[in-house]
Amino acid sequence: DWTAEHIIDELVSDVQTQVGDGRVLLAISGGVDSSTLGLLLARAVGEKLTAVFIDHGLLRLGEREQVEAALKPLGVNLVTVDARAEFMAALDGVSDPEQKRKIIGREFIRAFEREARAYGPFDFLAQGTLYPDVIESAGGEGAANIKSHHNVGGLPDDLAFKLVEPFRTLFKDEVREIARLLGLPDHIRMRHPFPGPGLAIRCLGAISEEKLDILRRVDDIFISGLREFGLYDGCSQALAILTPIQSVGVMGDERTYSYTAALRAVTTDDFMTAEWARLPYEFLATMSNRIVNQVHEINRVVYDITGKPPATIEWE
Ligand code: XMP
Repeated sequence: DWTAEHIIDELVSDVQTQVGDGRVLLAISGGVDSSTLGLLLARAVGEKLTAVFIDHGLLRLGEREQVEAALKPLGVNLVTVDARAEFMAALDGVSDPEQKRKIIGREFIRAFEREARAYGPFDFLAQGTLYPDVIESAGGEGAANIKSHHNVGGLPDDLAFKLVEPFRTLFKDEVREIARLLGLPDHIRMRHPFPGPGLAIRCLGAISEEKLDILRRVDDIFISGLREFGLYDGCSQALAILTPIQSVGVMGDERTYSYTAALRAVTTDDFMTAEWARLPYEFLATMSNRIVNQVHEINRVVYDITGKPPATIEWE
């Protein structure tokens, strides 16, 4: 019968059998699946695991530090790579959403390959593939398109490792339960999904350090607010968007001409369709006040009241 403790022992011994003395490489995204896998592999193979966390400069406020603080003390051999400058240079002046995704995917592979060579050789590549991913990849052209849309491409032949995928038979809830027993802090364990391209697809049009910095502060106020008001777990995903709209406002005796931030929160079972979350007006009022008071580059806040379809969850 399924108990998480029992399954952890089983997964650990399966990994040990598969990997033997081999060295294992893992890409950490900061999400629950790869973080939990890092903890499991640390338990199974210890120092034979190298977990690479690429900071592409598109992470949320404090995210890199949170991931490091969660994994390092639990024995994960974590290498953080500061690739912010490379990603910013590659994205300079790019405004098309699909172009942004392609460039980020390509830069990610490039950085990951470089680190794989620097710390290698490795025998195995670990991936946090879940049961629904296995089904989806097996399921026809439409599903395959979604996968290629959401995931980065393959690695070159000389880095063609054998795959270790201990979560292939598991659902998300089971991974979260395993994460709890392995000691992953709740703020990562119960976190909403966050897209691979990160804040780049929430900062509409061409990105810049300045715009990302504005967005990061708005996002942090909104997400912290949801947690503070006990609303976070009731949403499937929540995000802030920095729009390129500038509009007229007033502050004291002065007119302003500043950016509009959008907030979006949704509920969904499968992320294929979604409803906008009916957040309380009082909460939205508090968020709007905090944002315009603390982020001076913003003079207008709007809440997205569109379902999916026709709108997607992300704005790009
Ligand atoms: P949309 O915006 O298409 O998003 O309604 C559905 C879910 O997928 C996430 N998403 C992505 N995840 N890379 C990812 O890893 C991407 O390029 C990407 N685009 C969207 C989105 O955050 C939502 O959870």
